[in-house]
Amino acid sequence: LSGAITLDQGYKNTGACKSEITFLDGEEGILHYRGYSIEELAEKAHFLEVCYLLIFGELPTKTQLLEFETHIRRYTLVNEEMKSIIDGFPTTAHPMGVLSALTSALIAFNPKAVNPEHPDELYEAVCKLMGKFLVIASWTYRKSLGYPLNYYDNTLEYVENFMQLMFKLPTEPYKTDPVIVKALDKLFILHADHEQNCSTSTVRMVGSSHAGLFASVSAGISALWGPLHGGANQAVLEMLEEIQKNGGDADKYIAKAKDKEDPFRLMGFGHRVYKNFDPRAKIIKKAADEVLGTLGVEDPILEIAKKLEAAALTDEYFISRKLYPNVDFYSGIIYRALGIPTDMFTVMFAIGRLPGWIAQWKEMRLNKEPIGRPRQVYTGSPLRSFVEMDKR
Ligand code: SDX
Repeated sequence: LSGAITLDQGYKNTGACKSEITFLDGEEGILHYRGYSIEELAEKAHFLEVCYLLIFGELPTKTQLLEFETHIRRYTLVNEEMKSIIDGFPTTAHPMGVLSALTSALIAFNPKAVNPEHPDELYEAVCKLMGKFLVIASWTYRKSLGYPLNYYDNTLEYVENFMQLMFKLPTEPYKTDPVIVKALDKLFILHADHEQNCSTSTVRMVGSSHAGLFASVSAGISALWGPLHGGANQAVLEMLEEIQKNGGDADKYIAKAKDKEDPFRLMGFGHRVYKNFDPRAKIIKKAADEVLGTLGVEDPILEIAKKLEAAALTDEYFISRKLYPNVDFYSGIIYRALGIPTDMFTVMFAIGRLPGWIAQWKEMRLNKEPIGRPRQVYTGSPLRSFVEMDKR
């Protein structure tokens, strides 16, 4: 290859940066945030604590956590003019497209570029984005139903607010179910960061040109939307519903996945890094049984998912390619039980991943990383002379 350039499509063997935030071991199925295991954090921490840990590097003291939540609450009002922006969208617009657009639109109301080397400026931008993101994420859902847009309730804690933002109607009192809040808290923790995945690499790439935090996160939302990445959680449910509609025969879909002519991608299976199991999938699968059990939800889709997993784990095609359920395989089943509509599943992923994107953007800027600008291997035409129009 020309010069020192080596082609590495999909960056399968490229370390794009140094990072102190998240540690993954794909062989052992290990995931740590700032050195703490995901198993411990999912069991013992709250989502806002994990946001603080990822962004500022340490678990917060009680005072620091209270200060963080209080600071976020200063910015939970979204400029009323944002409503005319969301009114421009048809109710059929996909929530991820609306969320990316609204996140970018926030810049118009917060035009001052953040210098991450000024801690106060950075802290304010982080709290602004954390506070407003939940609101605009809920607006994408409310708008699709033609419902009035809700406001953040500063008397409720962060994750509990999401449910009231999504489901509170002006016509009746709304009370959040602690079981639902606990399940959401755990799911957001499990999605919070994952080293240099596609959307986080996008946030770092866009931020490396010194584009702002909001603009970089807006780009990350678009990358996450893809069905090969965060969009898989919606694609999994659509696949499971199709299997259910076609009689629930999991083996038929395993066979389809192996069909050389027209290979069917089993959504929610496989991972670039995890080659034995995705530790998050294990926790989410267990949580699915617990949450549906506690809520008294009987969902045949969960049984179909388990049948599919069992069939795949004994099939040579999947074993040889080390394809196991990933974070997206069971998460949608819990979201569904919580009343979250399928086209909002990837928005849920984005809410969980927001602190990871913020932490990685901050690290990239504070490390003064150079602008991302990879090379290529040119395979196009050699030099040729211009051809006049009448000779073409
Ligand atoms: C996320 O990177 C991250 O950390 C992402 C994420 C995060 O937290 O940020 O973990 C979140 O995005 C999880 C992944 C969600 N995506 C899906 O569930 C979509 C289905 N999965 C695949 O598209 C795939 O497994 C990827 C995208 C996850 C990984 O793709 P790779 O590493 O590029 O692997 P590949 O496409 O080269 O596949 C290798 C082989 C191929 O077969 P051969 O050409 O060798 O014969 O495995 C096959 C693929 O056809 N294969 C599958 C499959 N995934 C891979 N075959 C059937 N079903 C699948 N799901």
